[in-house]
Amino acid sequence: MASRAEVRRLAIESVARGDATGWFDALYQSVEGSWKNIPWVHLAPNPLLADWLASSSCVSEQHASGLTCLVVGCALGDDAEALSAIGFDVTAFDVSGTAIDACRSRFPNSRVDYTVADLLKLTRRWTGRFDLVFEANTRQVLPADLRPAAIKAVATTVALDGRLLVLCRARDRGEPQGQFPWPLSREELNQFSAHGLIELEFECGFDRGVPPVRRFRALYGRPCRFE
Ligand SMILES: C[S@@+](CC[C@H](N)C(=O)[O-])C[C@H]1O[C@@H](n2cnc3c(N)ncnc32)[C@H](O)[C@@H]1O
Repeated sequence: MASRAEVRRLAIESVARGDATGWFDALYQSVEGSWKNIPWVHLAPNPLLADWLASSSCVSEQHASGLTCLVVGCALGDDAEALSAIGFDVTAFDVSGTAIDACRSRFPNSRVDYTVADLLKLTRRWTGRFDLVFEANTRQVLPADLRPAAIKAVATTVALDGRLLVLCRARDRGEPQGQFPWPLSREELNQFSAHGLIELEFECGFDRGVPPVRRFRALYGRPCRFE
């Protein structure tokens, strides 16, 4: 098991070398297929996503069918599969080639288009292309100086009238940033509004972890031009 302390050390050393993302693939490789040894891997959809899918009127099977969806930092693919299962046409990417290979071998008959890509160097083909963008716990593992670019990159993929669902660890405004993985404040989350998105839903609560972790779930929308 890669302990949180080991993951933290790997991340800090990598960032200090000027490589903010290389450590992810090193970590995925290091567990040699024992995926549950990675602290964020549960081999099941995120319960906060599952709750949202079950309760949100805009994502019933009938409504999702044929809509495009992008999953950012998809890790082992469970959230992407959950979104695909209700009808979205899903593209899911991760900076780790090892994680993407694992997605493809875990879900050989998947309809999801799994691809290796770096959020900080996204293809222009994805600009404004997705009806739903899902980002969970990815921005919080990037150092603060890279987050503005990450926010802009995520926001630019949302189509007109599209939605962006974000999950992250939570902290109050003014509360110390704490240790990696750095929790985000609501104000940091809302930087999406600088890129044309508006907050539609915002919830704060505790997850079902042991111990429970405080988390935000926020939904943003890109208004239609003529609204
Ligand atoms: C903390 S994990 C969260 C994984 C998953 N979204 C979840 O909530 O369980 C962050 C994921 O984002 C990926 N990642 C980190 N930086 C990235 C980047 N710049 N572009 C694409 N993926 C990235 C990592 O490889 C890792 O799989």
